[in-house]
Amino acid sequence: MTALPLRPGCDQTRVLYQDERTALIHGDAREMAEVPAAAVDLIITDPPFNLGVRYGTASKDRRPPSLYGAWTGEWLRECLRVLKPGGQLYALMPLKWVPWWLPYVPQPFRILAWCKTMAHLHREKTYIRAWEPVLWLVKGGGLPATFHPRDGEELDWFTGSNALGESRRIPQKRRHPTPRPDWLYERFILESSEPDMVVCDPMMGSGTGAYVARKLGRRFIGYDIEEKYVHLASERVFGINESKGG
Ligand SMILES: C[S@@+](CC[C@H](N)C(=O)[O-])C[C@H]1O[C@@H](n2cnc3c(N)ncnc32)[C@H](O)[C@@H]1O
Repeated sequence: MTALPLRPGCDQTRVLYQDERTALIHGDAREMAEVPAAAVDLIITDPPFNLGVRYGTASKDRRPPSLYGAWTGEWLRECLRVLKPGGQLYALMPLKWVPWWLPYVPQPFRILAWCKTMAHLHREKTYIRAWEPVLWLVKGGGLPATFHPRDGEELDWFTGSNALGESRRIPQKRRHPTPRPDWLYERFILESSEPDMVVCDPMMGSGTGAYVARKLGRRFIGYDIEEKYVHLASERVFGINESKGG
């Protein structure tokens, strides 16, 4: 396996865990200083949804919509810097704030629909929202460098449950407020990368992307602004709780 593409001679103090396949970094998605330009094949991320979730002390999840939009633009710009031409980005989006994201999303892009198989809110006389938008784009706007549709062609919607019941059963839920299920990351990684390629999650939370990428033989670079989640991700990935381990 080829070495991880971290910037040679970069300041290593934020790289809390690293071996030849995985680097877990304590830092801000808007400044991935350890990652050179055009070094990453695939980005999958799940940013804070501006709904007031308390992740920790270093980040804020309640901003006026225009500031939330501008913040989204900052991390998106940094993602596009580190992504290779032809590389893909998947980002889970909060439906409520999609209009505030769009001015910052380069054309062309697609919004995929993740349709839940179970709805968790039951209300009478109104529709129950049971889907989430997922931003998908290719750097440079052409066709993706790597694409492995599951059935020979890929529809822009997919089903999979992540109703509250399922999300509460994710073991990381005890230590992170919003972990996503492994199958979601598995799906994107298998579709849009090959073994040994470099996957990045600039806001990795409990480390779902880190864990799944490693399991599938991909290299991985992840960031979180809250140090405690970098340690949590390391436990999932390395099964240890010591810095610079492997
Ligand atoms: C929705 S959670 C990600 C959950 C993840 N998908 C999982 O399965 O565990 C968003 C994460 O982004 C982190 N975060 C917030 N602002 C950040 C920033 N500017 N840079 C890096 N991470 C940030 C939060 O600490 C939080 O862990």
